[in-house]
Amino acid sequence: MPASSLHAPVLAWYADAARDLPWRRPERDAWGVLVSEVMLQQTPVDRVVPAWTAWLSRWPEPAALAADPVGEAVRQWGRLGYPRRALRLHAAASDCVARFAGRVPSTYDELRSLPGVGDYTAAAVLAFAHGRRAVVLDTNVRRVLARLLDGAEHPRPSVTVAERAAADAVLPDDDATAAAWSVAVMELGALVCTSTAPSCAVCPVRGSCAWLAAGRPAYDGPPRPVQRFAGTDRQVRGRLLAVLREAAHPVARPELDVVWHDAVQRERALDSLVADGLVDPLPDGRYALPGG
Ligand code: ADE
Repeated sequence: MPASSLHAPVLAWYADAARDLPWRRPERDAWGVLVSEVMLQQTPVDRVVPAWTAWLSRWPEPAALAADPVGEAVRQWGRLGYPRRALRLHAAASDCVARFAGRVPSTYDELRSLPGVGDYTAAAVLAFAHGRRAVVLDTNVRRVLARLLDGAEHPRPSVTVAERAAADAVLPDDDATAAAWSVAVMELGALVCTSTAPSCAVCPVRGSCAWLAAGRPAYDGPPRPVQRFAGTDRQVRGRLLAVLREAAHPVARPELDVVWHDAVQRERALDSLVADGLVDPLPDGRYALPGG
């Protein structure tokens, strides 16, 4: 079956079913798309929408963010998780100012040269901000293609050369249709071809799906990573950072010590926040969000 026979049904489904998300509106620019993609990498859409809206209204362009201290980016990041992303966005904004006249660049290599912008983010910005043909492989796209093309319930833990080639082969040739296909497949993965409860009965490409045709066999590849949170250093780091975010002033040790019972783990979490540049230890023994 030619790849092109998949395009029309998926694009028609998207035109009808897509969510109205603010970073997809025509008035948003490449900065808005970059911020959305960084936030969406590890945080669900529902939590990103209000955070993205607040971020863009505070910092509508890279220069506005670059002009504020990096600690303000960490504060504004709030409870989105994985807060090093705030540091990287601040550094990327500063780089846009220093090297690209305050604009988010529009070539793959220039995007990749920004701090924290990996293959996925560069491809997503190219496609969704600049309307270009780019192989966009996030977890939703990877799952849809694994099922549709390979007959596998889930993709392998990391992207293979063959997987990238298959995604490229099914991507429409022209820029505009390719960009539309990428966001449509991503949305299909988010709304229909979900990880644990896919709605195959309403899928626009159910007649072409290798996994459905094979009777939806269970995944039998290498173990997939599971993200734990409760009891991890990540949870402790989140609590420590919340105290600093909510305080108007630097914070003394006892205020941090109350957030977690295990002193060894608490110490390790605080040390790692300092090492990451998310927290500044002050000469007087107190702690603050980074100022520089
Ligand atoms: N639209 C564009 N990029 C997206 C993403 N990463 N997640 C959800 N919707 C999107």
